[in-house]
Amino acid sequence: MTARRTLYQTTPIYYVNDVPHPGHAYTTIAADALARARRLSGHRVFFLTGTDEHGQNIERIAREKGKDTQAYCDEIAAVFKALWVRLDVEYDRFIRTTDEIHRRGVLELWRRMTAATAPDGQSAIYRGKYAGWYCPRCEAFKDEDELKEPGHLCPDHERPCEWTEEENYFFRLSAYSDWLKDEIESDRLLIEPAGRRNEVLSVIRQGLKDFSVSRARVKWGIPVPEEPAHVFYVWMDALSNYVTALGFADDAPEFREFWQKSDERLHFVGKEIIRFHCLYWPAMLRAADVATPTRVFAHGWLTKGGKKLSKTTGNVIDPDRLIDRYGADAFRYFFLREGSFGQDWDFTDEAFVSRYNSDLANDFGNLVSRALTMVARFNEGKVPPRPGSLDEGDVGLEVRFQSEKVDWDATGSSLVAAVFARYESLDYAGALSLLWSWVGQLNQRIVVQAPWEMAKDPGQRPELGQFLYRLLEAIRLIAVMAWPVMPKAGERVLAMMGLPPGPPAPDDLKWGRLVPGATLPPVEALFPRIEVTGVEPRAPREKKVSDPTERPAAAAPVPGTASAPSPAGPPAETTQAQPPASALITIDDFAKMELRVALVKSAEKIPGSKKLLKLQVDLGDETRQIVSGIADAYTPESLVGRKVVLVANLKPAKLMGVESFGMVLAASLDGKAVLCGFDADVPPGTKVK
Ligand code: MSP
Repeated sequence: MTARRTLYQTTPIYYVNDVPHPGHAYTTIAADALARARRLSGHRVFFLTGTDEHGQNIERIAREKGKDTQAYCDEIAAVFKALWVRLDVEYDRFIRTTDEIHRRGVLELWRRMTAATAPDGQSAIYRGKYAGWYCPRCEAFKDEDELKEPGHLCPDHERPCEWTEEENYFFRLSAYSDWLKDEIESDRLLIEPAGRRNEVLSVIRQGLKDFSVSRARVKWGIPVPEEPAHVFYVWMDALSNYVTALGFADDAPEFREFWQKSDERLHFVGKEIIRFHCLYWPAMLRAADVATPTRVFAHGWLTKGGKKLSKTTGNVIDPDRLIDRYGADAFRYFFLREGSFGQDWDFTDEAFVSRYNSDLANDFGNLVSRALTMVARFNEGKVPPRPGSLDEGDVGLEVRFQSEKVDWDATGSSLVAAVFARYESLDYAGALSLLWSWVGQLNQRIVVQAPWEMAKDPGQRPELGQFLYRLLEAIRLIAVMAWPVMPKAGERVLAMMGLPPGPPAPDDLKWGRLVPGATLPPVEALFPRIEVTGVEPRAPREKKVSDPTERPAAAAPVPGTASAPSPAGPPAETTQAQPPASALITIDDFAKMELRVALVKSAEKIPGSKKLLKLQVDLGDETRQIVSGIADAYTPESLVGRKVVLVANLKPAKLMGVESFGMVLAASLDGKAVLCGFDADVPPGTKVK
């Protein structure tokens, strides 16, 4: 375990111009998952979110709705808070820019900025005249060359910008260019992903302009003391929240601890507001002689039909509808697993249902219920004794899960360390896919080990107990490691294993926390399968495994859609739905396929079948059983020692009663198979792409 760190992390504060949508939830869930992962690793974390309530735009919307502006803000802020409760977001503080603590903090920041001298020797704040194109929705001036013509439209909102001339207070950002460049290039301000860092550096290279920090024509805001008819510019007001919330105005202990002396000050932001966070904000703090942020992660946009999800573009998705249908855990899992956090990605209901059914209902949900059902049946519903030592039978599970020495995933660290390293770098999809590769391996282990066969032989009881203990322990650890993303499911799994209720603690990341002899409560389905007519999953969903303890997760109808369950898919050995000849796949679709070089170690005919052979193939780090329909073209002997191409991540299927964990690729010539091969020697396990 690394040393205990003190960490501060924030989301943007969201405008109350409308109720939240999944774009807002995306950032907030990501920040919450990191905060949970960090607390689970033993660090001290302060996690801040809130609402941005001032400005012309909000004043106008409240007026259009015929509401008092503050009452309107109260209403929408409450909707944000309620959504965070539903989504299990556990922030430490919710700051509103209409809070008194915020107003006092902004005034203190202003006092310090007005007293400051910029690096060029001039005052950091000055009075000046501004004339330019102003977008009231962005609450920002736009460069003429940014506008969309005709109509001087804002490039983000596609609405007309207003020509605005004002006498305002200005902040001398231009004088901070060299300092900012140095901060960013040295990574003292780490901007991620790297592409965004380059973008910010290029903005600095093009020359920074001073920006105005007050508005003469806006009333809904914090008045500037020297000029009460002016209010602070919304971005000056909004950015300050990150320190005002901690009691900056009073130099409160929380401010000193979590901001000034913190080991990391991290802002999660969407990519569109990176300049404010990486240029305006650090420079303002520098002028006020306050510590500056150490890390800004600008994530990609959630799109629908290729367009940014936003009220303005009109393609909103109701987050409550998704939570009602699938639950908060599935919501959190989907958004953090489906896209890469730094990139834009497109939301579809089909992808949601597909991931839910494949990853949560089939893979994880089934694994948990199979393991617990086996304990109920074969060990009287009690946690088996803890195995004394590592031996061959443990398939390296303990070693992989806890050892710091095993070369896991080429990082040289244990699974726990590898997963948490991914959380730390905000690679949520990477953390989850690593965990789910273990979910898959454990499901396969059950099939290979066939504990129901062991249960028939009283002599094998000790081995059966050891196997079940290790299986349960591995699942428990996966549930704990997935808890930052799926807190409810994680805690339910722990409860079903007879462990005390409540969130897991750092010690729960160690192997061997199950209590032998503990009686397990009844098994409940974690993620009931969803059947939706018209929304078909991406891959064949029906798993055919001979495990008598496996029960397919019960189907749950989806409200508002036809709920008739779709007929079970055809047997794997006959046909599978083919895409239309014209259907094209993207490189991402192709990347879902795991093709590997496999060395045939043994081959034999399957009794009663003319076409099928049972192969044992070596994949470098494991041996797999494959059933392949190539017996009419190849004798078993001719295959031994041959290298073939294997689809390694195909769901297990049963052909003529024999389990197959993958598929060998071959061409078909006059109905006979011709195997794919290589024209140089390639080691088993090598990826084929
Ligand atoms: N109030 C400002 C932020 C001030 S922070 C000092 C603001 N508010 S906002 O309501 O427009 O929220 C913007 C943020 O919400 C984005 O930066 C991002 O974190 C999140 N998202 C809103 N729509 C989003 C998507 N479609 N996709 C991903 N995130 C999105 O800007």
